[in-house]
Amino acid sequence: MANIREVLLSMDYGPAPEANDHVEAWLAGHSDGMRHFIGGAFVPSAGGGSFEVRDPSNDTLLTRVAEGTAADVDRAVVAARNAFGAWSKMTGHQRARHLYALARLVQKRERFLAVLESMDNGKPIRESRDIDVPLVARHFYHHAGWAELVDVEFPEHGPVGVCGQIIPWNFPLLMLAWKIAPALAAGNTVVLKPAEFTPLTALAFAEICNEAGLPPGVVNIVTGDGATGAALVAHPGVDKIAFTGSTEVGRLIRQSTAGTGKKLTLELGGKSPFVVFEDADLDAAVEGVVDAIWFNQGQVCCAGSRLLVQEGVAARFYAKLRARMETLRIGDPLDKSTDIGAIVAPVQLQRIRELVAKGEAEGATLWQPKTQIPATGCFFPPSLFTEVEPASTVAEVEIFGPVAVSMTFRTPSEAVELANNTRYGLAASIWSENLNRALEVAAKVKAGVVWINCTNLFDAASGFGGYRESGFGREGGREGLGEYLVHRAEKHAPSIGKDTPAFVPSALPATDVPIAKEMGNEPRGIDRTAKMYIGGKQARPDGGNSYAVHGPGSSIGLAGLGNRKDIRNAVEAAAKATSWGAATAHNRAQVLYYVAENLASRASEFEARLRAMTGCTADAATDEVALAVRRTFWYAAWADKFDGAVHATRTSNVTLAMHEPWGVMGLACPDEAPLLAFVSLVMPAIAMGNRVVAIPSPPHPLAATDLYTVFDTSDVPGGVVNIVTGERDVLAKTLAEHDEVAAVWYFGSRAGSTMVEKAAAGNLKSTWVNHGRAIAWSETGAQSRGFLRHATQVKNIWVPYGE
Ligand code: NAI
Repeated sequence: MANIREVLLSMDYGPAPEANDHVEAWLAGHSDGMRHFIGGAFVPSAGGGSFEVRDPSNDTLLTRVAEGTAADVDRAVVAARNAFGAWSKMTGHQRARHLYALARLVQKRERFLAVLESMDNGKPIRESRDIDVPLVARHFYHHAGWAELVDVEFPEHGPVGVCGQIIPWNFPLLMLAWKIAPALAAGNTVVLKPAEFTPLTALAFAEICNEAGLPPGVVNIVTGDGATGAALVAHPGVDKIAFTGSTEVGRLIRQSTAGTGKKLTLELGGKSPFVVFEDADLDAAVEGVVDAIWFNQGQVCCAGSRLLVQEGVAARFYAKLRARMETLRIGDPLDKSTDIGAIVAPVQLQRIRELVAKGEAEGATLWQPKTQIPATGCFFPPSLFTEVEPASTVAEVEIFGPVAVSMTFRTPSEAVELANNTRYGLAASIWSENLNRALEVAAKVKAGVVWINCTNLFDAASGFGGYRESGFGREGGREGLGEYLVHRAEKHAPSIGKDTPAFVPSALPATDVPIAKEMGNEPRGIDRTAKMYIGGKQARPDGGNSYAVHGPGSSIGLAGLGNRKDIRNAVEAAAKATSWGAATAHNRAQVLYYVAENLASRASEFEARLRAMTGCTADAATDEVALAVRRTFWYAAWADKFDGAVHATRTSNVTLAMHEPWGVMGLACPDEAPLLAFVSLVMPAIAMGNRVVAIPSPPHPLAATDLYTVFDTSDVPGGVVNIVTGERDVLAKTLAEHDEVAAVWYFGSRAGSTMVEKAAAGNLKSTWVNHGRAIAWSETGAQSRGFLRHATQVKNIWVPYGE
């Protein structure tokens, strides 16, 4: 043992291991293996299989765990369904009492759970004890509150039903809490599948459920690997899937749930920028990097893994960072002075090694401190890559290990460009003492969470989730709770029964147009095709083809038969119209009021068009136009009132929840109420600052194409509304596949809804489809805040206060 003089000279820490005898005793009590938790009881796998769970820091076997089969999943879903009736009918207060009891018991067991988590996952006890488990308790307390308030705060909403929840291994118990707490608060029951590397704290939580007296079947836990997860996703008795994990699996889940009507939230990977401006407090920023990329060995979906440093301070910053890296302690996760613990499993360690080798091979400079790492177990040193090309593998791919990848920039706009140069959009961290600049950059970065002069802060009151290929939906806060609720009108909307075949317009060359009675005096051959509207200009269809638009008796005109190229042109025009999103909400409101006024002044013309197209009565046409005008006024009124929020998070932060437009949206409109439905979709989307490419009803497109003259005379900037006529599903597919389109709304057939959800899996864009259900466009339900919520995503910006 070192004497005092030697200790003072080295100033090294002695070992400070956290006792784990209570966990060892618990594991010994389960020496015959751990079972699924179904209907309140611990049951063996139906197939009799089990798999090993090992401590990644020393490769010892902790226990064996039941291997979930499709039959186990089925049993669990049945148990959850049986429990749903009584649980969902409880008063909010009764559910709150249960959640409160869970929170209390988690708190009582904090030390046990933290030690078990560190042994199972390899994360330092400092983190499991001070971050993971306290946040778990916080989530249950916070959502006990939501259970109490949900009826009042979400009128007309109810639980979705049985929720399948699949979680990863990086924050096993915390991800469980993020999923189970809001689901239960809203009145759902759950089947949760923990990750195969880290199922133990979920099973300890199952014991807590029984101890807290939670009714059997409200929470069910089935252990297993990806196949078990896939069985849960595929189960027809599941109403919603909530998934956290890799983007690849998220994409598979999007494809396999397409068309099933299952609600879906995906929290996926990231490659989040950590931006250091030259006026940043560099020492604070260095500590920020430690928390951003070496927290949990960098196995964090929102890790600040792309370090962007302003050129003027880069050398100084790297020097400070390397000095700090030398002091990071790597080793036993249960040692209270360990900074970096073990990587979760050998396969993940191997993946990190391969990616780092690739980074070196591609020419980036690797630096690692001289710190000793343990000879056995899954350890990887903290690593810094500099001189990295933005297009290199390590700059693009999520390494999910303790590896920072750094690049430099010169100007703020270059920083934004680099920050957004990724397919992901989960988080960003911005460091500058100039708050004006930091907030401006925060607004421009495409990420669901932005931390200013801080990083990796989480709280139950603030939503968490990504833009782009980082997924969709939020967890935490009001918006997270909303993901576990469904509007009663949506839940009970009548199905259209047998799917109506989509209207397929047949192409007519422009020279061979049938002349309708109404056009009888026109010389044959004159092109009477209603034009499409792209970039503020009338546009002819790229393919040169039109199709006949029929009224009840005869053909009443022609519309352009749009193709992929027309959609691409329209998306390009929409993408260019960026000034609309940047305009003030007041300005947008004024434009929408103007549209409403101009539509009102031409009401009789639109009424006549509706009658000719659909054969509706004069009264019905009058009503439809009047409603379209009123609805436009309504969304104009909302344009500057759909406020965000300031969340009451636990730390000293102002946490701003801002509603941001998606950018370019694709809208496929239904056949019913062809003018009103078009207006009902386009107006909320553009009121929120989106630019849209809209496909009007294929059999009845002319009221929508007539609108272009209204837009032209109402100061709607070119490119904000683009109209492409033609076959709905063909055009919607191109929209759903287009990388520049961030969200698609589709109101058509059931088959078309399935197609859109599948096609949107490519870049994981958000979709809102009707699954072929009829929508009563003239009723108040078709004019609601829900449309505004679907037209926006929430960005949470954390700004610390205090010195
Ligand atoms: P993964 O996405 O395969 O696993 C996450 C969860 O999904 C686990 O519970 C797993 O059993 C389950 N799963 C796997 N395949 C499934 C399927 N077809 N259907 C339903 N569930 C399925 O992630 P994995 O393989 O553990 O890690 C690979 C990479 O994914 C990591 O290196 C990292 O880059 C990323 N990742 C990202 C996470 C995040 O929080 N965003 C978490 C975990 C991994």
